[in-house]
Amino acid sequence: MKTPQAVPLIRAPRRRGSRDKADPCTMVIFGGAGDLTKRKLIPAIYYLAEQKLLPDNFALLGVARDQNTDDSYRAMMREAMSRSDEIHKVNDDVWQWLCQRTFYAGGDFTRDDAYANIKTRLNEIESKSGEEDRNRLFYLAIPPSVFETTLTHLCASGLARRTHSYEERPWNRIVIEKPFGTSLDSAMALNRLVLDEFGEHQIYRIDHYLGKESVQNILVFRFANSIFEPLWNRHYVSHVQITAAESVGVEGRGKYYEEAGVLRDMFQNHLLQLLTLAAMEPPSSFTADAVRDEKVKVLHSVRPLVQGDCEPAVVRAQYDGGTVDGKSVPAYTSEPDVPANSLTPTFAAMRVDINNWRWKGVPFYLRSGKRMARRISEIAIQFRSPPLLLFGQKAVEEMSPSVLTMRVQPDEGISLRFQVKTPGAMHELTPGLEITPVDMDFTYGEAFGNDAHPAYETLLLDCMIGDPTLFTRSDEVEMAWSIIDPVLDYWGKHPARSLPRYPAGSWGPEEANKLLLGDHTRWR
Ligand SMILES: NC(=O)c1ccc[n+]([C@@H]2O[C@H](COP(=O)([O-])OP(=O)(O)OC[C@H]3O[C@@H](n4cnc5c(N)ncnc54)[C@H](OP(=O)(O)O)[C@@H]3O)[C@@H](O)[C@H]2O)c1
Repeated sequence: MKTPQAVPLIRAPRRRGSRDKADPCTMVIFGGAGDLTKRKLIPAIYYLAEQKLLPDNFALLGVARDQNTDDSYRAMMREAMSRSDEIHKVNDDVWQWLCQRTFYAGGDFTRDDAYANIKTRLNEIESKSGEEDRNRLFYLAIPPSVFETTLTHLCASGLARRTHSYEERPWNRIVIEKPFGTSLDSAMALNRLVLDEFGEHQIYRIDHYLGKESVQNILVFRFANSIFEPLWNRHYVSHVQITAAESVGVEGRGKYYEEAGVLRDMFQNHLLQLLTLAAMEPPSSFTADAVRDEKVKVLHSVRPLVQGDCEPAVVRAQYDGGTVDGKSVPAYTSEPDVPANSLTPTFAAMRVDINNWRWKGVPFYLRSGKRMARRISEIAIQFRSPPLLLFGQKAVEEMSPSVLTMRVQPDEGISLRFQVKTPGAMHELTPGLEITPVDMDFTYGEAFGNDAHPAYETLLLDCMIGDPTLFTRSDEVEMAWSIIDPVLDYWGKHPARSLPRYPAGSWGPEEANKLLLGDHTRWR
């Protein structure tokens, strides 16, 4: 197995209060006219402005290839906001405030003249603020194919410069979108490139799952309460199921998906992030590196899959046509930009074993798929059944076990399923008691209203404040790849002649059920 490289860490403290204001800065979005910018970044920046979390001398520079002026770019962003499902109502005063601080520069990121143009625009914008040396946040909302050239040009042009410590001012920070590499080798190469030019404390590798309130709450729930943590181990937990199911298909991104497939798209990042948060030890403090150190330890403890393990431990499949939300939808191979003979998996289920004192012998089952029955992301901790049932004739195995479920989306919340006596009911044949599982339920919406902050809002604010806790460190991203790589390698060497199919709108293929059968359990 390849070994991820060790990267010197630069300790960054967690500085952030509950909703601190961003530092004064200029944010430069590379890919400023792309889908991510329109759907997620601009609405997130708008929300920060609405809550007065951006300083008066904030500035935003969108950079893309289109021929735009500042005004036409602002109009394009306004139009995108009106279509965004993140924004309910745009307040004109807030929008005007943001418009006055929004600018555009055109250019092709593979060419030097683009960076000269950006420099000229930044000089114009920043000189107005009267500050010679401004903090700069560079957001790479661009296809991975241009990450490398953009990073190299950024540094060579002097637009972004290396700083030697977290405390150095003005700060220059770089946000890199997922996917960070497509394999362990490519992630290591990208890390080398990034860390040749910048310090680790300047790099924010984004996984937007970590910006969700419900994901951050996993740590609060575990470590701010003392009732569950004593049970959170192999003595009381029988297994853990982590699901990230999507009801949508590839949504016009067939080209991207053909190269990615479900393991790169969902497992290497989101699912392994959920796994680390559910499985990690309490950190020594809530600082960025203390939290990330513990997450990395979990990844180090995952038993690596060797070639012979891949077949029984990982199931892959692809969706057929079917019905989702009452609408009939085509098979994956009929999606635009997908070849009719594609063997790209759109579903996978995987058993992960964590070889440490807490989790030895407790399987973690991970699954994710597109076009599944319902959109749902959750972590379900299934507890062991009692050794003996004292009530009635029902066998212990027949009883539904106690389960703690942390719902990440939608309907964010936590529920605990446990057994109670059915009122009045007696067992038919023996004078035992009837037992029924019931749920104790907490939902964020009910408790706090429906105004959870969108993930990108939280993460952008963290970048501007300098809190990297919710971003992936270089060793973390490489460890995650080192878990997924052997499976991709095995699949590459043993291409499927045909893939198991599942109808769109179902919970995946029959083969995924067999993965759990050996452990006498079922998917939720
Ligand atoms: N969209 C999402 O929901 C989403 C979610 C998670 C992560 N991401 C990640 O975010 C990144 C951007 O995704 P996206 O969906 O926004 O892609 P996109 O819609 O294709 O936008 C990419 C932007 O980059 C620009 N660009 C590409 N090559 C360029 C070059 N050589 N010079 C100048 N501009 C160039 C494009 O300009 P043109 O229009 O001129 O080509 C476009 O504005 C990707 O890494 C993706 O994996 C996206």
